[in-house]
Amino acid sequence: MRPAVLFVCLGNICRSPLAEGAFRAQAREVGLDVLIDSAGTGGWHVGSAPDRRAIATALRHGVDISRQAARKVTADDFRRFTHILALDHDNLKKLRALRPVDGAAELGLLLDHAEGLEGRAVADPYYGNEAGFEATWSEVALAARGLALSLTARRD
Ligand code: 4NP
Repeated sequence: MRPAVLFVCLGNICRSPLAEGAFRAQAREVGLDVLIDSAGTGGWHVGSAPDRRAIATALRHGVDISRQAARKVTADDFRRFTHILALDHDNLKKLRALRPVDGAAELGLLLDHAEGLEGRAVADPYYGNEAGFEATWSEVALAARGLALSLTARRD
């Protein structure tokens, strides 16, 4: 079955768009055929592009996330995606509560795929500065690499 991965944070304008961008780049690099998207558990920014600091950070790493648009997680996401990865524990808890009975997606923390950061949350950089976004990128990029490699190994 073709894997489908959804990254989920609170606003879908900072952390999960960076995770989506980093994972798209890694999937392309390892030749993984996978559906990729991101969403938020909150709806304040629906329809908005990612935060300009997130766009700038991704660009510095050669990834363009400027065309993403924020959306809220839906019940159908739990049926369409094979993996739904939360950026922190609070959003993982919200996902567990939102999951419909027939939602088969595997839920987990994104950083469980980052060696040495298992069980940890990606801190919200929204109220911080550019350096915080750079730290977010490092964490999500490490996890994106681990996830791409494990999904590639699981293929066939
Ligand atoms: P994100 O960051 O969850 O990484 O997208 C946030 C962005 C906006 C808000 C909270 C977190 N907000 O409250 O508007």
